[in-house]
Formats: sequence, C-alpha cells, structure tokens
Amino acid sequence: MSDMFVITVRLCAGVLSTLLLLLSGSLASPPNFVLLFADDLGFGDLGSFGHPTSATPNLDRLAAAGLRFTDFYCTSAVCSPSRASLLTGRYQTRSGIYPGVLYPGSRGGLPLNETTIAEVLKPLGYATAAIGKWHLGFGANGTFLPTNQGFDHYLGIPYSHDMGPCKNLTCFPPDVKCYGWCDVGTVFVPLMHDDAIEQQPVDFLNLERSYSDFAVNFITTSANKKQPFFLYYPAHHTHYPQFAGPDAAGKSLRGPFGDSLLELDNTIGNLLETLEKTGVINNTLVFFTADNGPELMRMSRGGNSGLLKCGKGTTYEGGMREPAVAFWQGTIKPGVTHELASTLDILPTITKLAGAKLPPVMLDGVDLTEVLINNGKSERESMMFYPTDPSEQYGLFALRLGKYKAHFYTRGAAHSATTPDHDCPGSARLKAFDPPLIFDLEADPSENYPLNVTESPEVQAVLEQIKKAKQQFESSMVFGASQIGKGSDPNLEPCCSPQCSPKPSCCRCS
Ligand SMILES: *[C@@H]1O[C@H](CO)[C@@H](O)[C@H](O)[C@H]1NC(C)=O
Ligand SMILES: *[C@@H]1O[C@H](CO)[C@@H](O)[C@H](O)[C@H]1NC(C)=O
Ligand SMILES: *[C@@H]1O[C@H](CO)[C@@H](O)[C@H](O)[C@H]1NC(C)=O
Ligand SMILES: *[C@@H]1O[C@H](CO)[C@@H](O)[C@H](O)[C@H]1NC(C)=O
Ligand SMILES: *[C@@H]1O[C@H](CO)[C@@H](O)[C@H](O)[C@H]1NC(C)=O
Repeated sequence: MSDMFVITVRLCAGVLSTLLLLLSGSLASPPNFVLLFADDLGFGDLGSFGHPTSATPNLDRLAAAGLRFTDFYCTSAVCSPSRASLLTGRYQTRSGIYPGVLYPGSRGGLPLNETTIAEVLKPLGYATAAIGKWHLGFGANGTFLPTNQGFDHYLGIPYSHDMGPCKNLTCFPPDVKCYGWCDVGTVFVPLMHDDAIEQQPVDFLNLERSYSDFAVNFITTSANKKQPFFLYYPAHHTHYPQFAGPDAAGKSLRGPFGDSLLELDNTIGNLLETLEKTGVINNTLVFFTADNGPELMRMSRGGNSGLLKCGKGTTYEGGMREPAVAFWQGTIKPGVTHELASTLDILPTITKLAGAKLPPVMLDGVDLTEVLINNGKSERESMMFYPTDPSEQYGLFALRLGKYKAHFYTRGAAHSATTPDHDCPGSARLKAFDPPLIFDLEADPSENYPLNVTESPEVQAVLEQIKKAKQQFESSMVFGASQIGKGSDPNLEPCCSPQCSPKPSCCRCS
C-alpha cells in the first residue's frame, strides 16, 4: 500500500514535470536542438566512459552535468545506414540504406520521401543546419544533399573523408604522413556549401575551424532572431585517416586519434560557449553519440570499444553500443541511466519536445522524454541488430530483449581486425546458432559467457520471448529498395569544374 502510494506520487510528479516542461515550452519558445554525432568512436573512447588518456574536457563537462547512457545503441555497425536511422527514426532496412555504405558516385541516397528530423521541425519555424559528414548520398546534381532533406544550410563533405586521394591529407605539422589508406581513382574530397562546391580538395588543417565558425554563426544568428534552431553536426572525427589542425595536433596523449578527438571536443566547447553567450543554453538540448563502433583494424589509431566485444562492422556490442550523453541545463538532471535507448529514439523525442507532428510512417523509435526529464523508464524493450548487408533471407543477426542478447548469427569484419579476439576479424566467417547464443548483458557486457539454454528453464523462457519478439518484428519489416544496390557512376562524383578533363584528377579548384 505505502509502496503503491510512493509509486503513484512518483508517477504523478513525473507526469507533472513533463507537463510543466511542455507547457513552458509552448508558452516560451520551443527548445533548440544540437545533435552531435562522432564517427567510428567506440564505447571506450571518452574520458567519461573510462578512457585514461583521451583529452575531452568539454565532453566530460557535458557528461558530468548531463545524463550519461550506458545502454545506447546505433542501428548499424557502418556509417550510412546508421545515419539514415538517426535522421528518420527508422531501421535502415526500411529506407533502403544497405548494404554497406554510399560512395561518391552512388546513384542512390536517402530517399527524399523519408522524413528527417529537420523536416519534422521545419513546419514549426525552426532554422536548420547540418555541418560535417553527410554520407546519405550526393546523386545526380546533388539530389540527395542535406539542403533537399530539410536543412536550410549545409557545410561539409558529403561522404567519408577517406573517399578520395589522401596524399595531402596530413596531420599537423604537414610533414606528418597520412596514416592508413584512402580511396584512389575518385575525385578529390570536396567541401560543399549548401549545394555548391566551395573547395576541392578540402583543406583538412582548417576544416574543423570552418565548421566551428559556421556553427557559431548559425547559433548566434538564430538566437538573435529568437528563432528556434536545430544544428546537426555529424563530425568526421574520429574516423580514419585522423587529422587535426594546429589547435589540437600533438596536444593529446593519445596520438592522431586523440588529437582528432580533441579537435572535435574543442568545437563542442565553442558551441557550448556560444549557447551560453547568446543566452539560449537553458533552452537547448545537446545530445552526443556516435555512428558505430571503432575501426579496430587501424590498431592504436582506430578507437576503442572498452570492455565491449569487437567493433565496427560487427553485431557484437562493440560495433553497436555507443557512448551517449544528453545535456540540458536546468532541465536534465546530472546522472547515469541504464535504460535501453537508441539513435532511433532521437526523432520521436525531439518531435515531442518541440511539440511537432510525427511523420505518418512506420517508426521504430520511442519517445525518451521520460528518461531525459525524469530519469524514468524507457519505452524501449528491445533492440534489433542487422548485419551491414541485411537481407530478408537471414533477417536479424541478433536481438536484445531487456538485459538479454541473443545472437542468431555471428560474423567478424575486416573493420574489426587486429585485436587478439578471434571472433572479430573478417576471417571469422558467418556462423549460425540454433539455439542462439544468449548473453546476460547486465552481468556480462563483454559477451564472454553464453548462457546454457538447455540447463536453465529461466533461460528457456527468455529464449521463447526472444523468438516471439523476433518473429513479430520481422513480420512487420518491409525492406525498402536497396539504394546502395543501385551502384555508382563516376560521372556523378562531385566535380567543381564539371566539363574538365581528364577526370577525376582535373576536379580541383582553389
Ligand atoms: C518512398 O517511395 C518509394 C517508391 O515509391 C516507396 O516504395 C516508399 O514506401 C516510400 N517511402 C515512404 C517513407 O513513403
Ligand atoms: C543536372 O542539371 C543540369 C542543368 O540543370 C541538367 O542539364 C542535367 O541533365 C542534370 N543532370 C542529371 C544527371 O540529372
Ligand atoms: C600534394 O601537395 C604537393 C605540395 O603542395 C603538391 O605538389 C601535390 O600535387 C599534392 N598532391 C595531391 C595528390 O594533391
Ligand atoms: C540559466 O539558468 C540558470 C539557473 O536558473 C541561471 O543562473 C542562468 O543565468 C541561466 N543562463 C542563461 C544564459 O539564461
Ligand atoms: C549445457 O548443459 C548441459 C547439461 O548440463 C550440458 O550437457 C551441455 O554440454 C551444456 N552446453 C554447453 C554449451 O555448455
């Protein structure tokens, strides 16, 4: 009885504070959103998630003053599909962003009839901007650029920065060599401003400064106009080959990876300072996470998944679980949550907080407002894991339900090579498990000790629930036509002097 009373009071307090928040939101101006998305950054890469030598003073500040998620997932262990899910609140299989990733000359891209977070916010009068790595398509005449997906402005490289000849992509000072490989035989990596090419090749040593200035200017302009805003910053950091300008190069204890992370952190510091200076910090939700696990193949320059198994390209925890932090001064209480959450949930959550309308499509995300505002329960009970080449034939590789994760298939990935764990590299071929491998992620987050299904009735019961959840989910999944399967055409690669020859090397302008 008294327990019940306490629960009721708590629930009421929760609902009440949410109501008050929404009410104050609708009376004052709706909140601003700053969405920060790091690249190939693992669960163990931030100081606030246990890395001993990462220099991330601003991210540490966000984590200390915000809500830190321990069980936050992306939807794919590679870039493009993960981004598609973040911006649409839908698994990548629905929008067709599979298999693998988009290339500079890809014919496909995120279909324009998908609704992005920016498009959800536009009808409410939000100013919207994207800076950094888009990687959801370029296409004929830039059809798939952010400016066609709800963003008023864009400054950035429309794909990964290793997708071009990288001879001159160096760390600072300029005589430091470019680590790792880049693609050859494509155009130099361009910097787009809205839908025009501003630079080709990109000047990497000054790139982060340009992004920071652009974002500071966007926030300042919007705040001065009292216009609510949405800033989406998918960073190139800490993807390979790592680079850093003069303010960060050589300044961390962690080498090129640490320097690139420090450079990202510096920008985050500039953004926070601007939010403060322009007086909007108390009305802005800042959310940080990353697109997929670390590129272990690059060894010490490749990021770190901490105590999680394997990394990029795999459906083990190291490929899919990411650090995440929600910061909103005066609204989100500092703390840690173990609730299950995903990039899929960002769109529904922002929609709710802004008082916008959900897109009329099948969404896979849930509203996290209760988790953010009241450190409450997540509506998310499960998380689905597709491989980088999802197919209806194989379906899900893994599924998490509550604290249990079942692997129906496992496979290593080239991206996860070089650690001593033999399950991680590409040489670990596809293996099917029936019954699936089951782990209790609360007791064993490293996926070291599969539970014995035959021995325990409790685990058997869990397995039945997992099978049911899998069946239900898969019967609701309609695969969109593969956008990446449409292939590439070198003529579609961005070129600042379209008529020049010989391509691709003539596509350079200063
Ligand atoms: C977008 O258009 C394609 C092709 O007509 C269709 O198959 C798909 O369902 C549409 N997607 C949405 C979200 O409406
Ligand atoms: C791109 O735009 C130009 C000029 O509007 C047009 O002539 C050309 O056909 C377009 N290219 C493609 C592939 O759509
Ligand atoms: C790299 O820089 C050097 C010196 O500035 C220049 O001569 C060379 O053409 C550049 N290489 C590429 C691939 O851009
Ligand atoms: C934000 O709220 C805090 C606490 O109410 C207040 O001290 C601070 O001045 C506010 N900052 C801005 C920029 O309004
Ligand atoms: C599970 O337990 C059963 C019964 O104790 C045993 O025979 C079997 O070898 C165990 N399986 C595994 C995979 O450890």
